[in-house]
Amino acid sequence: MKKIIVTEKISDKGVALLKAQKDLQVDVEMNLSREELLKRIPEYDAIVVRSVTKINEEFYEHATNLKVVGRAGNGVDNIQMEGATKRGIIVVNTPESNIVSACEHTVGLLLASCRNTVKAHKMIESRVWNRDGLKGMELLGKTLGIIGLGRIGGLLTTRMQAFGMKVIAYDPYIADARFRKYNVKKCETLDELLKESDVISIHTPKTEETMNMITYKEWQKCKKGVRVVNCARGGLYNEQDLARAIREGIVASAGIDVLVDEPKPISPLIDLPQCVLTPHLGADTQEAQDNVGIAIAEEVIAALRGEMVPNA
Ligand code: NAD
Ligand code: MLT
Repeated sequence: MKKIIVTEKISDKGVALLKAQKDLQVDVEMNLSREELLKRIPEYDAIVVRSVTKINEEFYEHATNLKVVGRAGNGVDNIQMEGATKRGIIVVNTPESNIVSACEHTVGLLLASCRNTVKAHKMIESRVWNRDGLKGMELLGKTLGIIGLGRIGGLLTTRMQAFGMKVIAYDPYIADARFRKYNVKKCETLDELLKESDVISIHTPKTEETMNMITYKEWQKCKKGVRVVNCARGGLYNEQDLARAIREGIVASAGIDVLVDEPKPISPLIDLPQCVLTPHLGADTQEAQDNVGIAIAEEVIAALRGEMVPNA
C-alpha cells in the first residue's frame, strides 16, 4: 500500500479519485505545521501541494521515502527541482488546467484597476454617491504590453484584442512565429515595451532572472499614468518600487493577485487606494479547481505506478 499526503486544498473530485485507488492510502492534512509535516513525511511515498508548501532541501532531507511530488497547479517555484532530480523524485504539475481562469482573473483585475471599481464600491458602501476622482481609462486603441507570451500571455492577447487593444510583447525565449500567430508586435527589448505600453501585464514564471524584473528604474521609463497587472507571482514587480511609482503618479493603478510574502498579507501595496488586490485567486474557480484536482490525481497515480506521466 502506497501512502499519499495532501497538504493543501485540492478539489473533492481530485481527493475522491485518489481515494478510489485500492492500492493507495490518502491522508488529507491541511493544518500541519512545518515541524509536524517534516516529522510525518518519512511515512509517505507522495505529496500533493499547491503554492504554499515549500518543497526545499530541508524537506527532501526528511522525505526519505518520497517518490512523487504533485504540484496541483501551474508554477513550480515552490519546488526545488534540483533536490528532486538528484534523489530520483518525480515532480508532476498541471500546467494547462487553470490557465483560462488565471487569464480571466487578469482581465478582471485589469478592468477593475482601469475603472476604479473597488474604490467606487467602498464609497457606495459608506453611502457616498460621488463620481469625483473615479474617472477611468478606456481600453479601445490603447497598447497592452505583455511580459511573457506563454500560455496565459497568449490567452490574454486574444481577449484584449477583442477590446480593441494593440498588443505588444517582450519574451526573448520564444520563436518569432508565436508573435506572428497572435498578431503581436515583438519588442526586442524590455525598454521598448515599457516605453510604448498604456497597460502592462506580466506573465513570466518566477525565476532568479524574473524576480524584481521591474524596479523603480523600469517604472521611470514608462508612460506617466501606466496601469499594471500582476496575476503571475509576487515580486516580479518589486513591491516597494511599485508602491513608490504609484505614490509618485508614474503608475496610475495596479491590479495585483500575488504578493511576495504570501500567505501573510504584508505589502506596501495593500494600503494604496490605487491598488486592487486579491489573495492569489487566479486559479480559484470551480472549473479550474476540478480540472487541477483530477489532473494531479491522475498524474500522481500514474507516477507511483511507474506509468507514463505527461507533465513530469
Ligand atoms: P508559461 O511558461 O506558459 O509562459 C511563461 C512565458 O514567460 C514563457 O513564454 C517564457 O519564455 C517567458 N519568460 C520567461 N522568462 C522571461 C523573461 N525574463 N522575460 C520575458 N519573458 C520571459 O507560463 P504560464 O502558464 O503562462 O504562467 C505564467 C505565470 O502565471 C507563472 O508565473 C505562473 O506561475 C502564474 N500563474 C498564476 C496563477 C494565479 O493563480 N495567479 C495561476 C496560474 C499560473
Ligand atoms: C498556479 O501556479 O497554478 C497558481 O498560482 C494557482 C495555485 O497555485 O493555486
